[in-house]
Amino acid sequence: MTHETKNNSASSVDLKSAPKKEKDYSKYFSGTAPSLKDAKKRTKNGIEYNEFEGIPEELQELGKGRTYLIRTYGCQANEHDTETIIGLFQAMNFTETEEEAEADVILFNTCAVREGAEDKVFGEIGRLKALKKEKPELILGVCGCMSQEEAVVNRILKSYPHVDLIFGTHNIHRLPVLLRDAFFNKEMVIEVWSKEGDVVENMPKVRKEGLRAWVNIMYGCDKFCTYCIVPYTRGKERSRRPEDVLAEVRDLARQGYKEIFLLGQNVNAYGKDFTDIEYGFGDLMDDVRKIDVPRVRFTTSHPRDFDDHLIEVLAKKGNLMEYIHLPMQSGSTEVLKRMARKYTREQYMELVRKIKAAIPDAVLTTDIIVGFPGETEEQFQETMSLVEEVGFHSAYTFIYSPRSGTPAAGMEDNVPEAEKKDRLQRLISLVNRLGREQNENLRGQVVEVLVEGESKNNPDVLMGRTRTNKIVHFTAPKEMIGQLIHVTITEPQTWILYGEVTAKAEV
Ligand code: 5AD
Ligand code: SF4
Repeated sequence: MTHETKNNSASSVDLKSAPKKEKDYSKYFSGTAPSLKDAKKRTKNGIEYNEFEGIPEELQELGKGRTYLIRTYGCQANEHDTETIIGLFQAMNFTETEEEAEADVILFNTCAVREGAEDKVFGEIGRLKALKKEKPELILGVCGCMSQEEAVVNRILKSYPHVDLIFGTHNIHRLPVLLRDAFFNKEMVIEVWSKEGDVVENMPKVRKEGLRAWVNIMYGCDKFCTYCIVPYTRGKERSRRPEDVLAEVRDLARQGYKEIFLLGQNVNAYGKDFTDIEYGFGDLMDDVRKIDVPRVRFTTSHPRDFDDHLIEVLAKKGNLMEYIHLPMQSGSTEVLKRMARKYTREQYMELVRKIKAAIPDAVLTTDIIVGFPGETEEQFQETMSLVEEVGFHSAYTFIYSPRSGTPAAGMEDNVPEAEKKDRLQRLISLVNRLGREQNENLRGQVVEVLVEGESKNNPDVLMGRTRTNKIVHFTAPKEMIGQLIHVTITEPQTWILYGEVTAKAEV
């Protein structure tokens, strides 16, 4: 069975069975539209692993004399998907451009996690209407997580008919044919598979950064936290085979990459879907540890699946960085329950204790949502106290954003907007203070830094990162870019550690 036929048939959406109040737009496009109802389903079917079959011969020259521009929003998973999309464009001989006015294809790789991210994209698509009018042959495309949402696709059909192409997160490998259809079709081309695709190996990729390489280890998420749209937009958990992941990491090491960044929506669930082998995230990290590459890190973890074996392996260090991003979301057991996080405040803290006991110099960072429906001031205070107790070095902090179709969107959102903003501010102040205090401990210390390049505001100053992902600025010759060096921290601040080069690090 080929990948394409299977998924097409599994997920083609009968728009007639969609809620009646939505207008049926199916006659305005060719292809398949998303359905949240289908996306919610989790099948027991095993995962199929497919090799990318290459660009069909007749499409290999599709991009000759044509240019593309991609705007990417959201997380590293999206950034990495963009690297694959660029790989496909280049395999079809398209050339990249930074100029909208010059582009033959403009593609938005979108994020659905909060409303703000979606508003930005709608604003951009609206703005490009004028350009599309001036240049009707321009192909305007939308892909990524927003494409997987029924409401988004309906809104585009209704209010942004100048969009030519919509495709989802499961069918990126179909880009060549979809693009051909968009170039030669009058109708809007939509192909979004609501049931996850399987795993497609060996897609072409053009990595943007020369030192750090993202590597997917798994796709999707089965956690269904009540606020989160990701399980719907990214489908069920599917792990890549260890031999494929390890071969990719080895190859990147050979190419000279210095840092491997393993990606998954919930990396700790890696391997749980294997039926033939017992092999989890701890095992994978233990094997990656043996590969000759200076640094390895991962994102993102779910505390519930973070097991002792993984902690044991991380404690072996070597190339495994002492940096763990461990989303906590809330410090209130009551709120965590409503979020369906499946752990309590005490269990989270217990995990932190275990990690710190095994890896005393581990730096922990986190994600926190404030203003979740029904969150009281007292419950927010529990978040504040847990943040302090853990001693995070930094945190991504968000105001809760209702996502249509998720269980939390149906909960009474009774926290006033001003209160949410106030809580966010108080939380940010606390996180910043903790970060500053902990950075202060580094004053006078020598740290290992991977030199990434020139600092943003001053080309005479170089920037790099510690093994704990802290940004360091220092003066050094440009030849040091790409090297591991030792820096003495002279002036630690909240976001940046200023230092002086001590020596080239031995690795
Ligand atoms: N509202 C606000 N923040 C959210 N996140 C996920 N969904 C939402 C939402 N609906 C945050 C979580 C997650 C991070 C990637 O985004 O903190 O860990
Ligand atoms: Fe945004 Fe999540 Fe999609 Fe990443 S996976 S782009 S964070 S919605």
